[in-house]
Amino acid sequence: MPAALTAAQRRRLLAAARRAAEAAYAPYSRFPVGAAVLMADGRVFTGCNVENASFGLTNCAERTAVFSAVAAGSRRLRAVAVFTPTPTPTLPCGACRQVLHEFGPDVPVISVCAGAGEVETTLAALLPHAFGPDDL
Ligand code: THU
Repeated sequence: MPAALTAAQRRRLLAAARRAAEAAYAPYSRFPVGAAVLMADGRVFTGCNVENASFGLTNCAERTAVFSAVAAGSRRLRAVAVFTPTPTPTLPCGACRQVLHEFGPDVPVISVCAGAGEVETTLAALLPHAFGPDDL
């Protein structure tokens, strides 16, 4: 099990994910998603979904956030938060689980939504028996 976040880390991360959804480019799905990643170095990076007229090229919020962190030189994930505009929380898609695994195979994943509900789990629970860098 990964170490628990402090209350302040958790608050900061969830607020960042919620705010990140405001930048979503989602004209096709009209489903804005925000994500925030806390890195081991203490930095927080955010991402939103970025859709495309060629639908398959859509990038999810979680991957946008991770790619921003890596592009800034930060590679070790500490925790992930996701916001979706749904009545109940939703968890990262399969593609994002795989990308998150590369940089934090057992980090906490917290999902929040428009409603009051929250889900907290771990990446290892979401992607058991994962294929990763150690398998190469
Ligand atoms: N989406 C995300 O950004 N993250 C998820 O975890 C699930 C789905 C996006 C992709 C697409 O732009 C829209 O939500 C509808 O699937």
